[in-house]
Amino acid sequence: MKATIEQLKKRVSAALVAAFGDELAETDPLLVPASNPKFGDYQANVAMSLAKPLKQQPRAIAEQIVANLDVSDFCEAPQIAGPGFINFTLTNAYIESQLSSIIGFARLGVEKIDNPQRVVVDFSSPNIAKEMHVGHLRSTIIGDSIARILEFLGHDVLRLNHVGDWGTQFGMLITYLREAYPDALTTADALDIGDLVAFYKKAKQRFDEDEQFREASRQEVVQLQAKSEDTLQAWQLLCEQSRREFQKIYDLLDIHLNERGESFYNAYLPEVVADLDKLGLLEEDQGAQCVFLEGFTNKSGDPQPLIVQKSDGGYNYATTDLAALRYRIDKDRADRIIYVTDMGQATHFAQVFQVATRAGWIPETVEVVHVPFGLVQGEDGKKLKTRSGETVRLRDLLDEALGRARADLEQRLHDESRHESEEFIDRVAEVVGIGAVKYADLSQNRTSSYIFSYDKMLALQGNTAPYLLYAYVRIQGISRKGDVDFGHIGAGAQLKFREETELALAKHILSLGETIGAVEADLLPNRLCQYLFELSQKFNQFYDRCPVLQAKEPERTSRLVLCDFTARTLKLGLSLLGIPVLERM
Ligand code: ARG
Repeated sequence: MKATIEQLKKRVSAALVAAFGDELAETDPLLVPASNPKFGDYQANVAMSLAKPLKQQPRAIAEQIVANLDVSDFCEAPQIAGPGFINFTLTNAYIESQLSSIIGFARLGVEKIDNPQRVVVDFSSPNIAKEMHVGHLRSTIIGDSIARILEFLGHDVLRLNHVGDWGTQFGMLITYLREAYPDALTTADALDIGDLVAFYKKAKQRFDEDEQFREASRQEVVQLQAKSEDTLQAWQLLCEQSRREFQKIYDLLDIHLNERGESFYNAYLPEVVADLDKLGLLEEDQGAQCVFLEGFTNKSGDPQPLIVQKSDGGYNYATTDLAALRYRIDKDRADRIIYVTDMGQATHFAQVFQVATRAGWIPETVEVVHVPFGLVQGEDGKKLKTRSGETVRLRDLLDEALGRARADLEQRLHDESRHESEEFIDRVAEVVGIGAVKYADLSQNRTSSYIFSYDKMLALQGNTAPYLLYAYVRIQGISRKGDVDFGHIGAGAQLKFREETELALAKHILSLGETIGAVEADLLPNRLCQYLFELSQKFNQFYDRCPVLQAKEPERTSRLVLCDFTARTLKLGLSLLGIPVLERM
């Protein structure tokens, strides 16, 4: 099924050519979903934009378009409104036939893309031996959802975890490892440092208080860079420890990632600097090698440098990202590279992209894009902290969500005098608890900050995961109650919708592809959340007004088909957000 909006666009384009000639073949018909349902389902705004070039009144232009337009196979006669809007209303017959045509299809009519791309999504990317914080949680959740949506559309997605696994801090960490765990490198037993953050703090403390320790740390950095075996082994060990901790979070969140940390690009760093030099882009500034940026100035108005090699010869975060960018384009053959990090790194990426562009490393066919997101705030509106003022550990945050989801559920079971198995309770608490955290994050426009509230995200009402999960459960309940096999209900059915709430729900179901297409373009998963929220609302409105199991045929089957479609759309949509559904809750 080609999205209705695409078909309409083609028709309006053809009408433009028929009315005004071939010069308008490339003109965008400016077709969008109607701003207000009372004007129909779609509107074309092109007449207004043509008033100037055609030197005619927009209304007159609209009339000529409509005179050349035939959409009778799916719309009522187009209406011209206001200064020259052309409004389209889908016919009932079209809606019924569209829905019939996708009854047996798991993709619910959303086609795979014609030209799949190779897409790199760089997300999560925490730092070794440091705490994975809520910022990384956002990156993980948003990045995963973007990856899922692109994969669903048929793109070839490479999910990369650009972990911070290199840098001078390892000198201090390795020195402390040798001091605190002298046998770590020689015993066969797996080392368990436990709390790596506490380990980091202690190492830092030793570094700050003891000159000998500092010197030893500097030596370790030299050894690490020289790839001395013993030091590399210690580094590996620390990475292993972190990896294990990160993996627990990924397992809990059901996230899959390929680790390719900063250290992976070490061998490519000297080449970045050498090539920038060859291109004449490199300049020395106080002993450091840098590229002077266009459009970035310091306080006194001078161009700001991007350092790519420090005066001590070391490389930095920017050098690594330049090397990574080249690798992803040249070796991974990426067509689109997406970086999901907090907004604070916007300048970093703008600078890296500028240097890579000026160096000619980004072909015109390749799109590199930073996908920024805002802060997670506590209920006080400030950056999320624990009561004692520390950064919140992700593990604790997720455990709390799980615990609360469980407590809510147990209360509900108690109130309803229901008895359920331990297994049931575990599963529901997990899906609701983790789903609530993910959904709370994804449902906000990622560019804004949001207030983290367990109460809000776990509420059964409002734009929350539990509300959507509950709508799904409610529909499964209808099938159980009526002993209806949703798998077979629709086959060969003659659908007939006459009630306004039925039609509104059916149209909404049919617009899933448009929503997913929009997310593909602007990488805003909150659009999909909003779509699913409206779907649940429209379903509830329909279900309040229209009897289903008690209805007579053909309404009964048509309505059961609508129920089934709603459930399947919810399931598919939620899966693209990384949230599974429950049959009962
Ligand atoms: N490790 C970085 C951080 O924790 C994020 C890395 C993002 N990806 C990148 N290619 N720079 O802030």
